Amino acid sequence: MAAIPGHADASHGHEHDHHHPTGFMRWVTTTNHKDIGSMYLWFSFAMFLVGGVMALVIRAELFQPGLQFVEPEFFNQMTTLHGLIMVFGAIMPAFVGFANWQIPLMIGASDMAFARMNNWSFWLLPPAGTLLVLSMFMPGGSGGVGWTLYPPLSTQMGIGMDFMIFAVHILGMSSIMGSINIITTILNMRAPGMTLMKMPLFCWTWLITAYLVIAVMPVLAGAVTMILCDRHFGTSFFNAAGGGDPVLYQHVFWFFGHPEVYIIAIPAFGVVSQIIPAFSRKPLFGYASMVYATSSIAILSFIVWAHHMYTTGMPVAGQLYFMYATMLIAVPTGVKVFNWVATLYKGSLTFEAPMLFSLGFLFLFTLGGFSGLVLSMTAVDVQLHDTYYVVAHFHYVMVAGALFSAFGAVYYWIPKWTGHMYDEGLAKLHFWLSLIFFNLTFFVQHFLGLAGMPRRIPDYAQQFAEFNKISSIGAFGFGLTQLLFLYIVIKCIKGGPKAAAKPWDGAEGLEWTVPSPAPYHTFETPPVVK
Ligand code: CU
Repeated sequence: MAAIPGHADASHGHEHDHHHPTGFMRWVTTTNHKDIGSMYLWFSFAMFLVGGVMALVIRAELFQPGLQFVEPEFFNQMTTLHGLIMVFGAIMPAFVGFANWQIPLMIGASDMAFARMNNWSFWLLPPAGTLLVLSMFMPGGSGGVGWTLYPPLSTQMGIGMDFMIFAVHILGMSSIMGSINIITTILNMRAPGMTLMKMPLFCWTWLITAYLVIAVMPVLAGAVTMILCDRHFGTSFFNAAGGGDPVLYQHVFWFFGHPEVYIIAIPAFGVVSQIIPAFSRKPLFGYASMVYATSSIAILSFIVWAHHMYTTGMPVAGQLYFMYATMLIAVPTGVKVFNWVATLYKGSLTFEAPMLFSLGFLFLFTLGGFSGLVLSMTAVDVQLHDTYYVVAHFHYVMVAGALFSAFGAVYYWIPKWTGHMYDEGLAKLHFWLSLIFFNLTFFVQHFLGLAGMPRRIPDYAQQFAEFNKISSIGAFGFGLTQLLFLYIVIKCIKGGPKAAAKPWDGAEGLEWTVPSPAPYHTFETPPVVK
């Protein structure tokens, strides 16, 4: 019988002849992929709460027209930090956490390839998250630059910007090292017989994502370093008075920023590609085409960046090129959606929480894809640029896409992680409340945007009042619902019905069958890599 990892294993697993750190030092020195995966997930959830509170400050202020709760300057800091924290602190670390836990189990490896570097990748995150939050308390705060940190404001504001630049550098180092680890593990440490085209799709999506990370994180680091130089070292990269050009920053940033969207979305595709077959009792339809479609999306993501810049005044030829290139991404994305639907077709479906979140992902991510197609049209985008339509669009991709798939992943794998089943009734409630409140929050924002409500502004005209009220009520409902998620997870860790080694009868693959003793690695006892 396959052993189930968990606290019991960890406490009396391998008894080595020398002393192991316990308590806090155990977590500081651990090189075990499971420990590190858990730390990534907890860090991600903590940042999700911080970024979520900031979102609620925004929605509280927007509950009615006029200024009620915060100064406009503080409101702008909230939009800036909410974006940065959710993208780099919450979503990316969550999927690196899933990768740490699952990839070694899925391919039959003993651990990640560079176990000590894995520890370092994680421990870079808390200081970076702290720097982001601290920027708020500097003179001038985090500024009103948005998560994109556009100059000229970012080159001129107070030292909060230097905190954010340093945080971005550290976060970049962390994700690059994490990606090197994932690529090396997948390419070198697969069990005999586990060829690349036999890997679970989650491993494929992370292999592709890891290459994206290594390609574009240095570009972001370059962009913010140029801001740093403009701020302190007398350069004029983005300063028109010195011969530079602020639009240059937008090009460099979005050369990173668009692939970043897929760094977030592609591992989510991987999760859904594990869950839908398991709860359909069928193999994934079109496995090879999934691999090729995912690779095509990754490659195309490099050549569409200026669709974020239609209003900067580019030649019509450029507008047309970026419009058509962007629309092209709908083709491989359509292949993936078709394959998921074809997997469901004639399957013997059941609707446990992981499946519900995956189906929620399927519907709502596709809706976010459609509003993306709308925005890809230059003539339309020029009208909708910087309105709430854009905010609605990318929250369908980020929240209903990445976050819903992350919830699905937690419910799908938590029996394996803890040895216990979670409370299915509460988890289903978590799904339905999340679904309702998510749509309440963001669906109406499409209408606000179409009617011309600008984003990143704390006050608005009377005509937008009703939809904003609905959106704010939805946001507070969505926020409270996530406390239910926390309760379900803690309850599952503490106890609950014992999970079978293979808790989902439709789930296939090594991850459910490999015995997984919790190897108690620390710096003194790294795993042996053969
Ligand atoms: Cu884009």
